[in-house]
Amino acid sequence: MPDPSPPDGKRFLDGSFAPVTEEITAYDLPVSGELPAGLSGRYLRNGPNPLGLDEPSYHWFIGAGMVHGVRLRDGKAEWYRNRWVRSKEVAAAHHQPWPGGPDGPVHENMDFAANTHIIGHGGRTLATVESGPLPYELGYELDTIGPCDFGGTLPGGFAAHTRADPGTGELHAIAYFWAWDYVQHVVIDAAGTVTRATNVPVPDGPMMHDFALTRNYVVLLDLPVTFSLSAVSTGRRLPYVWNPEHQPRVGLLPRNGGEVRWFEVDPCWVFHCLNGYDDDQGRVVLDVCQYNGPFDVSTLWAAHGPVTLDRWTIDPAAGTVQQQRLHSRGQEFPRVDDRVVSRPHRYGYSAVIGEVTRAISAAGEFADDAFANALLKHDLKNGTTQAREFARDATVGEAVFVPSSPGAAEDDGYVMAFVHNPDRGASDLVVLAAQDFTGAPVATVHLPARIPLGFHGSWIPDR
Ligand SMILES: [Fe+2]
Repeated sequence: MPDPSPPDGKRFLDGSFAPVTEEITAYDLPVSGELPAGLSGRYLRNGPNPLGLDEPSYHWFIGAGMVHGVRLRDGKAEWYRNRWVRSKEVAAAHHQPWPGGPDGPVHENMDFAANTHIIGHGGRTLATVESGPLPYELGYELDTIGPCDFGGTLPGGFAAHTRADPGTGELHAIAYFWAWDYVQHVVIDAAGTVTRATNVPVPDGPMMHDFALTRNYVVLLDLPVTFSLSAVSTGRRLPYVWNPEHQPRVGLLPRNGGEVRWFEVDPCWVFHCLNGYDDDQGRVVLDVCQYNGPFDVSTLWAAHGPVTLDRWTIDPAAGTVQQQRLHSRGQEFPRVDDRVVSRPHRYGYSAVIGEVTRAISAAGEFADDAFANALLKHDLKNGTTQAREFARDATVGEAVFVPSSPGAAEDDGYVMAFVHNPDRGASDLVVLAAQDFTGAPVATVHLPARIPLGFHGSWIPDR
């Protein structure tokens, strides 16, 4: 077993990761270029922003969530806001009343400022996190409404990652909790009510960060990063470790009910799926960002080889999983056009990682191999990839695709991301034309503050 001693928390508090200390509201933001007039809505992104800096066992995954958002309308960037999600702890730190939430032992014990993703569903804006706590509902301007259990219909905790079927609007999630001997597949209808919760037994308490959805299946990744009581006892705030005893496997859970079917795979780790779909031969095609070999979640990218884009083709008839490397440059935070989730996709977008970047800190001494200064666009039909590089010392994380209109073709639209601009010491919202990925941005919104490296976000159009 790997050494479960606590990692050095400072790494995730410095340089590009360093939290901000203020909540800002700014109006009528300066824009270079021209924001498409048809973009009306909010680009929101969640990420950890710890309240204190003195915790030696801090891990990037455990900081209180802060949502950064930009509202676009009529070709203007109307506002930027950043707000901590008001969990009990965050509200107390701000000397504010906690908005309160549903009762129940799991919910009361697991309150946490959801820090991983932010989505729009059923008219709600939801900050999400995995491993037990409830999501938090936020208002349009990012004020916290409170923990959300979908009107009392959610049986346990929720999940960071969700997948919405673009045809039905049905939202799927896989919830896990260290004390459960199962993971729970949750289905929420388009209006925001849980209609189904199915327990799938799994041994060892695996971390199940993401999954994929196809027309026929929910695709489960049961990989060997599992809960560890000994890691708890040695002070790890994120007590999940590589477990070589845990058989790695991928599962196909029929969407319309039935037993999960498991297929063994070689040891590896996957945080994120790009997408999954059923092909015309009854196979499931799953594209993932894959960590090849043992993975230590406490150190994240340090000491790991490239995180590659791989395709797993799962053949239920033959009982096999074929694995193929699609792109070998280090990358993470893969996204497709949300309108092709569960359907065949041609294009994918991801952020380059694993290439040492320079410091944002004034001393210039901090180097991290997490995020780099480039985004990738994959054309998986033609087998080509374009790299979009930003300024030498810039950093960029996840990008989201926004269609130019509801009926536009896949890739006809924009790729949006927060990019740290080292010249200004602040971040920009960069809007690229997806079909001119390496050309000049369509628009750059200059934000008044630095946005620390974070996790996931969404474009949430106004209705
Ligand atoms: Fe994630």
